Amino acid sequence: MVKFSAGCVALSLCCCLWLAFLAGLPAEAARGGKKETVEETVKRVVGTAMEGSGRRLGAALVRLLFHDCWVQGCDASVLLDTVPAGSGTGEKDAKNNNGLDGFNLIDDIKAELVRLGETNVSCADILVLAARDATAILSGGTINYAIKRGRVDGVVSSASDADAILPPSTFKIKQLKDNFALKGFTTRELVALSGAHAVGVAHLQSFADRLNSSTETPIDGAYRNALRNHTEAQKTAQGTNDPIELNNIRDMDGKFQTDAGYDATGVNTAVVGVLDNSYYKANLQNRVLFRSDWELRNDTDTAANAGIALAEFGSSASKWFVAFSNAMAKLSDLRAEGPRFEIRKNCRKIN
Ligand code: HEM
Repeated sequence: MVKFSAGCVALSLCCCLWLAFLAGLPAEAARGGKKETVEETVKRVVGTAMEGSGRRLGAALVRLLFHDCWVQGCDASVLLDTVPAGSGTGEKDAKNNNGLDGFNLIDDIKAELVRLGETNVSCADILVLAARDATAILSGGTINYAIKRGRVDGVVSSASDADAILPPSTFKIKQLKDNFALKGFTTRELVALSGAHAVGVAHLQSFADRLNSSTETPIDGAYRNALRNHTEAQKTAQGTNDPIELNNIRDMDGKFQTDAGYDATGVNTAVVGVLDNSYYKANLQNRVLFRSDWELRNDTDTAANAGIALAEFGSSASKWFVAFSNAMAKLSDLRAEGPRFEIRKNCRKIN
């Protein structure tokens, strides 16, 4: 029989108590006195969630930021669950918010901040920081922009507000430009931000108009046919009539790219799901999913021509990185509008 000395038992007890103490403490003490900042916590949780196949979540966060800040400013209104449930009145139920994702990750970040004693961080700040970290990871560290905290959470979430202001994929160039101008964004910024479609996915209903010969806007014929075949196969594979496809032809498999006649010159096809200027190269070949993407080529305005920015970003990754970073920072700073604000305890419901 193994015998323990009294000293040994006391030491083990001390160790157990110490470990239990550490587990219950904020990161500050556990990390030997150096407190993890709010920014570091958000970055850590986003980084862990995006490891491996989690990159898709990063794209979801970037879209979530756009869809929050465009509607009544960056106030986390898009995160609120609809009340009463099932009434279809909240932002999450808006037609233009189809396919939004990333809500659970925001909940996880909020929970981790609260666990670490940071109870005063707004959900709006969390979303803005998380989207910034996601773009940094998706771009392999190339896209970085400074963000100040201090946003507040709104108490109103309206599906009709969201559908009134968020641009649908069927918008024409003038509608897109007017929509962005309403929020103080230039044509160049519209083109720069559309480059986010280098990553992520779309549901068939968002680009079905492009596959139908009676409604299609200029789209490369080989690409359209490859997409038609692929989406048909995906209906069975995904068990739905509204399957998702990858936004960027760069991320499709080799057979699809060959069938679609994709010219990958100047594109790094070794990487999948990377946020870079490959969207512009695909767009210049008429191989993009949405009508709103193609419309950027259809601008006759000589003063602020979207096509000029499109060509510029297609040929210069560094110009696009700068323009995108600046536009994302500006997007993240759209001031919250509303009757009342708070710091939500739960990002899904008002206090
Ligand atoms: C210019 C007007 C825009 C239109 C019409 C538009 C439209 C769309 C549509 C229809 C989808 C697919 C939704 C689905 O079917 O699931 C989508 C996806 C996406 N959009 Fe946009 N978008 C626009 C601008 C932006 C901007 C400004 C950003 C961010 C800066 C953005 C980021 C994204 C991302 C990352 C995805 C993929 C999301 C995911 O994988 O979950 N979009 N967009």
